[in-house]
Amino acid sequence: MRVLFLIVLYAGLCYASSDSDQENIEILMDNVLVLRVPYGLGSRVYVPLTCGEAYQNQPVVWKKNGEEIEPALQGNQVKVLVEEMNGGNYTCHLGPDGEYLNHTVILIQLDPDNRTVILEEFPEEGHIYCSAPNYNGSFHCTWRRSPTRSNAAVLLVKAERNSEKIPCELDADGSGIHCKDANCPYKEEQHRVFFTIYIHSDSRLEAYTKTFYLREIVRPANLHNLRITDGKEFSWNYPESWAKPCTYFGLQFQVKVVQKGLPCDSKNKIMNDTTEKTTYKVNIKPNKYVFCVRAQDKFTNGPFSHWSRCIVDKHTQVC
Ligand SMILES: *[C@@H]1O[C@H](CO)[C@@H](O)[C@H](O)[C@H]1NC(C)=O
Ligand SMILES: *[C@@H]1O[C@H](CO)[C@@H](O)[C@H](O)[C@H]1NC(C)=O
Ligand SMILES: *[C@@H]1O[C@H](CO)[C@@H](O)[C@H](O)[C@H]1NC(C)=O
Ligand SMILES: *[C@@H]1O[C@H](CO)[C@@H](O)[C@H](O)[C@H]1NC(C)=O
Ligand SMILES: *[C@@H]1O[C@H](CO)[C@@H](O)[C@H](O)[C@H]1NC(C)=O
Repeated sequence: MRVLFLIVLYAGLCYASSDSDQENIEILMDNVLVLRVPYGLGSRVYVPLTCGEAYQNQPVVWKKNGEEIEPALQGNQVKVLVEEMNGGNYTCHLGPDGEYLNHTVILIQLDPDNRTVILEEFPEEGHIYCSAPNYNGSFHCTWRRSPTRSNAAVLLVKAERNSEKIPCELDADGSGIHCKDANCPYKEEQHRVFFTIYIHSDSRLEAYTKTFYLREIVRPANLHNLRITDGKEFSWNYPESWAKPCTYFGLQFQVKVVQKGLPCDSKNKIMNDTTEKTTYKVNIKPNKYVFCVRAQDKFTNGPFSHWSRCIVDKHTQVC
């Protein structure tokens, strides 16, 4: 009986100590700890913090988000209780009103992290939209914060291919990023790009990922210099940013004519065709219409460019 009691007691102790379970705490980057908590269970976790070895024998006092903690939290190594999503910026100081020494930001990530609230979804794209104007290895990704989380800040971005880091630079507004894969040009792609952004809104951290081959996101830029010659023949040039030589990186073009006033993606078309040439002669009766053309890599059948158009009226043509 006593043995059973001890076992039960021991199990109880194990359960209690799993409260400060180290497995759910990860150092994401310098001065940032991430605590993973399950959704919807009022979690309480003790998180160990260290001010730093350099301050081992100093009278260290901690603050949370710039404010003193009640009761006072003192010592180089401490444990703070984090309840639910209440992380924060813990700073350590030399004595109660002393100078700032160091800090640790505690962020909370839900586990699993599938109930995201910070970014909005693009139709058919997920939360991150990536595109490249050619195969030279540069690509751009964007995301959109939801209106209620407009203050959310990007903490970290990881982009890599086959375990090799791809250098990236965040756009000034924090809603996009430019990356340059130097290893890529003109090689057959065998490995996908893995892209992750870590973004936080107050203490809530969310990670968003996207994986792709460059060929899946190469979208030709708008066609260049669309023009009309001798009344019914349209010509255009490859986008200036498209890969050269053009004979090797061939495009094909979807050509479409819709009624005047309708958008190019209208289903209500007068005619529709595909060509590999950069000219097209329109043979139709109406003299009021919209001529639309867009491009696609002819080998990968990847994403189309946006439409370019000319509006044709009896006596005027505007491209
Ligand atoms: C400051 O704290 C971080 C942990 O958040 C630690 O890695 C770093 O060594 C500390 N800095 C100093 C000077 O001790
Ligand atoms: C945390 O506080 C330190 C010291 O005031 C500051 O340098 C750092 O930027 C803060 N970090 C965040 C994420 O608020
Ligand atoms: C999140 O994942 C958990 C476990 O895999 C699942 O039970 C839950 O339905 C998911 N929630 C959403 C909103 O997808
Ligand atoms: C790749 O193409 C983009 C778009 O045309 C251009 O801005 C960039 O300079 C090119 N990069 C290299 C390394 O050629
Ligand atoms: C237009 O033509 C293209 C190829 O010529 C075809 O893939 C597409 O389905 C056509 N669209 C419509 C609306 O008929």
